[in-house]
Amino acid sequence: MKNRQFDVSDQQTLESILKARRDVRGNRFSDAPVANEDIEKILEAASWAPSVGFSQPWEFVFVRDNKIKQQVIESFEETNQSAKQQFDGEKQAQYAQLKLEGIKEAPVNIAVFYRASKLPVLGQSSMLETGKYSVVCAIQNMWLMARALNIGLGWVSILEPRKMEKILNAPEDAEFIAYLCLGHVKEFLEKPELEKLKWAQRKEIESVTFIDGY
Ligand SMILES: Cc1cc2nc3c(=O)[nH]c(=O)nc-3n(C[C@H](O)[C@H](O)[C@H](O)COP(=O)(O)O)c2cc1C
Repeated sequence: MKNRQFDVSDQQTLESILKARRDVRGNRFSDAPVANEDIEKILEAASWAPSVGFSQPWEFVFVRDNKIKQQVIESFEETNQSAKQQFDGEKQAQYAQLKLEGIKEAPVNIAVFYRASKLPVLGQSSMLETGKYSVVCAIQNMWLMARALNIGLGWVSILEPRKMEKILNAPEDAEFIAYLCLGHVKEFLEKPELEKLKWAQRKEIESVTFIDGY
């Protein structure tokens, strides 16, 4: 629709979806299968994301084979073990209690890759990272569309990217960005789990906003 305008109810709906989106981990997924048409909608949402020079540098690898999933789980466990060491004392003990992935529990696993263009990309000459930022925009679109469909999505980053590329047989120029776990949920939490557990708090917008420089 040309020059489409949205009304207050549209704005409220968007705000509700933004605020109700949660990172979902293995302790919250249900066994209910995800319909193919919902997966298609989530992928279509990714394809509408903004991208530098309209390069659309994202690629998705669905992981269905349990043997491959097992290798991903092993990579997670190994990486998580060393990640835990970054924290001291009580924080480390709290970290050890957290469920930080849902690889086995989620019915749909998607690895997301960045595939750089072989040709120059408009807008990407001085900031190479904008290619990867574009992939992250696509992931956010997926996260929001999944939530609008009442499907949970969890982002797993506690993985070794080079190992993931090996496990998934990625070509030389494909870079691992994210591992997404999707599925219906037993419950969507109202607030981030890490906020509930007092691991971190939402920042006041004033504390991160500056005028005319820092
Ligand atoms: C780039 C990125 C990587 C993340 N990696 C993980 C992860 O490996 N494990 C995990 O449990 N949560 C992960 N999260 C989820 C965050 O912990 C979560 O977004 C944050 O606590 C706020 O909660 P909410 O998403 O439910 O609002 C990741 C989120 C982002 C954006």
